[in-house]
Amino acid sequence: MKLAGKTAIITGASSGIGKAIAQDLDALGMNLVLTARSQDKLDQLAASLKNAKVVAAAVTDPDVPEKLVDFAIATFGQLDVVINNAGAMTVGSIEEVDIEAVCQMVRLNVESVYRLAYMAVRHFKQVGSGFLINTSSIAGLKTAPQYGAYNGTKHAVEAFTDALRMELAGTGIKVSAIAPGTVATNLYDHWSEDDKNYINSGGALQPEDIARCVRFVLEQPDHVLIPRMLAVPTNQPV
Ligand SMILES: NC(=O)c1ccc[n+]([C@@H]2O[C@H](COP(=O)([O-])OP(=O)(O)OC[C@H]3O[C@@H](n4cnc5c(N)ncnc54)[C@H](OP(=O)(O)O)[C@@H]3O)[C@@H](O)[C@H]2O)c1
Repeated sequence: MKLAGKTAIITGASSGIGKAIAQDLDALGMNLVLTARSQDKLDQLAASLKNAKVVAAAVTDPDVPEKLVDFAIATFGQLDVVINNAGAMTVGSIEEVDIEAVCQMVRLNVESVYRLAYMAVRHFKQVGSGFLINTSSIAGLKTAPQYGAYNGTKHAVEAFTDALRMELAGTGIKVSAIAPGTVATNLYDHWSEDDKNYINSGGALQPEDIARCVRFVLEQPDHVLIPRMLAVPTNQPV
């Protein structure tokens, strides 16, 4: 897809991977709708970009995905790309894991991904083109003790993405999953030092590394689709 002049929604754009994707797609001349809960961070980011608008909202609010699609079309006249990226990571032992945080993670990592994906793809079907990218994880391809709830959310994203891709074959609409290994972001801010040391034991990618993967997937010619891109730190022993 030629990206200059096209419009993208990016969820989880206030930090980490989403912010880096926004900076990259802005440099390619895209119009952007940036969303997350932190208005101040989004405003600061948008001010540094050429053509970005901010929608500060919790994407877990069931009304928000449809509002994002409507806002993008009303503001820029078209919607071409959706980066379904917002996510959280709660892990822990059976005895200690915070079950309420797990359920909030499921709402964010799964329910809101499904809602925005269906809204976006319904629009893409009306116009006959579009590209949906869901941020998955290496944790969507493998499992680990104490990571089960997060593994489940990202396995759901992988399965959903692959099934959508097949359902949309022949429609001109593309769907891909980006599956990072460890990336240095705020995702682990609330973790214990031991857990942080474990996840970083093979080093960490930078958010810009994942943005480059997203751009590579998006920029393929019409007849090429990369259904999943897995990118891990070279020394990650997972
Ligand atoms: N970092 C890694 O090692 C890694 C590896 C594999 C996959 N991933 C995936 O990459 C994606 C991005 O994560 P990240 O690593 O960039 O972490 P991050 O820096 O913590 O970014 C998470 C983003 O999600 C937003 N968010 C969180 N809860 C939200 C809610 N309820 N409603 C709307 N937005 C919400 C956050 O913004 P606000 O707080 O402002 O709302 C933030 O912009 C996630 O799906 C994550 O699972 C990360």
